[in-house]
Amino acid sequence: MISNHSSWAQEIELVVRQSLSGESSGHDPSHAFRVRTVGVRIAAATGADSEVVAATALLHDVGHRKGRLGHAKQSATLATQALSNCGFPETKISAVVACIEQHDWKPDRAGDPPHPTREYQAFADADRLDALGAVGIARTFAFGGVHGRPIWEPESEGTSESPYGISTIHHFYEKLLRLPNDMYTEPGRRLAAHRVSVMEEFLRVFYLEWESRDFEVTDESRSQIGSHCELSRNER
Ligand SMILES: [Fe+2]
Ligand SMILES: [Fe+2]
Repeated sequence: MISNHSSWAQEIELVVRQSLSGESSGHDPSHAFRVRTVGVRIAAATGADSEVVAATALLHDVGHRKGRLGHAKQSATLATQALSNCGFPETKISAVVACIEQHDWKPDRAGDPPHPTREYQAFADADRLDALGAVGIARTFAFGGVHGRPIWEPESEGTSESPYGISTIHHFYEKLLRLPNDMYTEPGRRLAAHRVSVMEEFLRVFYLEWESRDFEVTDESRSQIGSHCELSRNER
């Protein structure tokens, strides 16, 4: 595990805990700490400034408590104050604030800055990776519950009036399974592919159980569930 023992990091960790402890939509302090750990590793592989990546990762969602929409701007404002007060290198503050202000996932990187820095790329990949894999599945359902989004609406298609989509399973197809295409770095793409395979296996079993089709599955065939169950709801 990568740790950063510099005093600014300890002060910023405290700010993150104070701002986000108990947050129940998947944007709690542990999300920020995981994004920092993975982001710093990507930075080491790509030559990005690890201090900028670490500070960005820690502070990027501190404004989340006040609501999802507009949280990037809110987080950037809080980050400016926190970084000025904790001894973080002054010359790097604007780079951190710019990364935070600009983070906004949209399909095909449409929400990203037009010329992302290496630091933005390392941070954005780490943030997106935390939406994938087993942790990503847990966070996605937590987020859906907080925002009143149903687990799965198999009959519903098209668009929803809710900004959060029709159902959490729809969200897998609308965003999560597309994330590997939006990774910037090689380490990000590699880990994203592995984490997506975990989610695909989850979806296979989810559909079986949702329709109680696993009731008759014997122990022998249980190990073959993955190969017998279709992944995509469109193929069902
Ligand atoms: Fe965010
Ligand atoms: Fe995040």
